Amino acid sequence: MTEKRTDKWWQDAVAYQIYPKSFKDSNGDGIGDLNGIREKIGYLKDLGVDFVWLNPVYQSPNVDNGYDISDYQAINPEFGTMDDMTQLIEEAHANGIKVIMDLVINHTSDQHPWFLEACKGEDNPYHDYYIWSDTAEKPNDWQSIFGGSVWEYVPSLKKNYFHVFAKEQPDLNWENKQMRESIFRMIRWWLDQGIDGFRIDAISHIKKSSWETKARPDWPHSPFTNVKGISKYLKELSAVFKEYDIVTVGEASGVTAEEATERVGNDGYFNMIFEFEHISLWQRDKNEAVDVVGLKRALGRWQRALDYGEGWNALYMENHDVPRSVSVFGNDAPQYWARSAKALATMYLLLQGTPFIYQGQELGMPNMTFTAIDQLDDVTAKNQIKALLGEKDQATKTLEILELMSSVSRDNSRTPMQWDWSDNAGFSTGKPWMAVNPNHKTINVAQQIKESSSVLNYYKQLIKLRKTKDVLAVGHYEDYLPTDEHVFVYERFLEHERVLVIVNLTKESAEITLPQTVVGKSWSLLLTNMEEDKETSAVTETVTEKMTIAPYQALVYVHN
Ligand code: NOJ
Ligand code: CA
Repeated sequence: MTEKRTDKWWQDAVAYQIYPKSFKDSNGDGIGDLNGIREKIGYLKDLGVDFVWLNPVYQSPNVDNGYDISDYQAINPEFGTMDDMTQLIEEAHANGIKVIMDLVINHTSDQHPWFLEACKGEDNPYHDYYIWSDTAEKPNDWQSIFGGSVWEYVPSLKKNYFHVFAKEQPDLNWENKQMRESIFRMIRWWLDQGIDGFRIDAISHIKKSSWETKARPDWPHSPFTNVKGISKYLKELSAVFKEYDIVTVGEASGVTAEEATERVGNDGYFNMIFEFEHISLWQRDKNEAVDVVGLKRALGRWQRALDYGEGWNALYMENHDVPRSVSVFGNDAPQYWARSAKALATMYLLLQGTPFIYQGQELGMPNMTFTAIDQLDDVTAKNQIKALLGEKDQATKTLEILELMSSVSRDNSRTPMQWDWSDNAGFSTGKPWMAVNPNHKTINVAQQIKESSSVLNYYKQLIKLRKTKDVLAVGHYEDYLPTDEHVFVYERFLEHERVLVIVNLTKESAEITLPQTVVGKSWSLLLTNMEEDKETSAVTETVTEKMTIAPYQALVYVHN
């Protein structure tokens, strides 16, 4: 192994995303908190995690669970104190784990002092920190991402302010230099507290088109997504980041693979971005099969566009905004649940890039079956429910809504982390702020630590594997059989080192014919998610031209 496998520490790292509200409650109030995270540092270390990303823990009225910030430099009391945060950073560091925070700078809360001041009148110095219409009339009919107009009327001013998300999340005016400087001061202040970087929220939206621009018919949010001129602000922002040795990951909705090198290339604004292309494929009719060809195309495109040296990918299959991957890309039926969770893990964790694991994903936590409307919390779920709940036949409607929410709501990924078998899954001794998934009686950390073939132990194996093979750190990517509708076959290669990954992403068994370039080499099996079937020869120890890949089977081979 070479001494230094990658240029940067974060290229050789595995990240773990923590949704603090649902991770671990330390004081029995039912809400996860910073001291709860401190209790679990050992767990993260054992898993093999190098850095964590915390969803927002700043002061917030929680209309959008912390993405509406009312004080950037204060910790939300429900999560703890600034001292707790300092301790968390110190203890994580002592255990070799870095900490990055969420940076929400496209908008604030409508309770932020800047906005309260801004509403006092046009003469107020903070008025121009936000975006206003000239008159009482809405300047256009643009639709916000959370539904309804982007404009909200303020009667005392007889003007509207602009918001890309909920109306309680007014957008900051990036055209205003003082505003930008206030934000940059705040960023430096946090970095001086010793954090190791940021995940940057909603950054594609900081620049808006001129008001008369029409939204693209296929894309209602086009007038405020990656608008020309955005680079001026991204450049200023990245200059601040570059004053520090940190990692930055931009949330980059709407950025295409072709545009990606500008964002993350050698002179890019961020170290990595979360692309939306592959993840958006979860949005399909429940009865339709996963678009395996589309998934391969999307991931392959990003692998090629940001190859080591050109850029760098952030790899992910889950976050707090999408339903659980095993339920949408895998298969949560009992016979396939564990196997498909492991198949997905194999498929994405061995790509080139920095993998992010979202809390509970390493257990194969599936979606929740919501049984009452008041179990839903997310602002977008609530908006959708309000719209769906018509006048008549509430009972049937409610059932339909619950079924829908159990498959599409962001709340699916926000149920409490499942630590053990006890009533509240070991998450809290009090009443959890959000319903615990009843399946914690079988799916939980304590159980999976005991079982050698658990999803959790499989994740640990994959993480170890990544860290022991240079080719998995910086090796290039090539895929085969792009039109095969079941199986994802790709190779990682670096000089003479090669790893071959074969994953069936469907519930049908599939016959594949591998090209001579692959078959002509000698391979031996490194890892499979069907260890228990090895004796019955359902798993082949080596690669042959024709292979039958069982449903959700994953095979990893190394070139001898
Ligand atoms: C993206 C975040 O991930 C999401 O949770 C939030 O609702 C929006 N940005 C608005 O901040
Ligand atoms: Ca708590």
